[in-house]
Amino acid sequence: MTFLAQRFHIVHTTPAWMSMHERVLLYGLVAGLQPQRIVEIGTFKGGSTLVMCAALDDLDADGRIVCVDPNPRVAPEDWDSVQHRATMVAEPSPEALASAAEVAGAGFNFALIDGDHTRAGVERDIEATLPTLAEEAHLVFHDAHYFEVREAIDDAVRRHPTLVDAGLVSVDSSPDQPDADGNEVAWGGLRLLRFRRHAS
Ligand SMILES: C[S@@+](CC[C@H](N)C(=O)[O-])C[C@H]1O[C@@H](n2cnc3c(N)ncnc32)[C@H](O)[C@@H]1O
Repeated sequence: MTFLAQRFHIVHTTPAWMSMHERVLLYGLVAGLQPQRIVEIGTFKGGSTLVMCAALDDLDADGRIVCVDPNPRVAPEDWDSVQHRATMVAEPSPEALASAAEVAGAGFNFALIDGDHTRAGVERDIEATLPTLAEEAHLVFHDAHYFEVREAIDDAVRRHPTLVDAGLVSVDSSPDQPDADGNEVAWGGLRLLRFRRHAS
C-alpha cells in the first residue's frame, strides 16, 4: 500500500458532483474496505470514478471499477487516467447490471449508487445490484438526504435481512426548493449499507 499525496489530491480537482467531505470519505471508504471489484451506477463526468480509482491505485492491488451510465460525459483525459482499472457500460441500470457483472467476472465488493434518484429508480438499482454482489459487500448511496433516495433505502433495509444499515456517513446537505408536491428537498449525504449474503 503506497499512499501518495499527489493521488489523494484528486479530491480537489475531480469533476465530481460531491462535496469535499464526500470525496474524502469516498476515498477513505475505498482505501479502508479495499474492494477488488466496484460497480458505480451513475458516472456522469467520472468525478467519483476518479476518486475511487486513485484510492485503488494506492492499494497496489488489481481493483477494478465497472461504470454504468447511459449518458456518460467523461472527458477523454479523465478516462485516460482511470482506464487501467475502469470499464464503461453505457446503458441504463437496471438492465446494464447483467453486463456489468459479466465484465467483473465475480461478485462486486462495493457499489456506489448515484444514478436515477427517483424512489422507483433507486429501488430498481438496489434489486438489480444485490444479486451481483460478492458474499460480503458494501453499498454507498449518494444524495441520501433526498427523500426519494432515503425512502427507497429504508424500504430495502426493511425487506432484505442481508442488509445492515450503517447510516449516514457524511451528513453534508444542500437544501433545494420544495418539489411540486411541497416535499422538502435536500441533496447530498452518503449512506452506507453492509451486505452479507448469508446473514445470521
Ligand atoms: C449525479 S450524476 C452522477 C455523478 C457522479 N457519481 C459523481 O459523483 O461525479 C447522475 C448520473 O446518473 C446517470 N443515470 C441516470 N439514470 C441512470 C440509470 N438508470 N442507470 C445508470 N445511470 C443513470 C445520469 O446519466 C447521470 O450521469
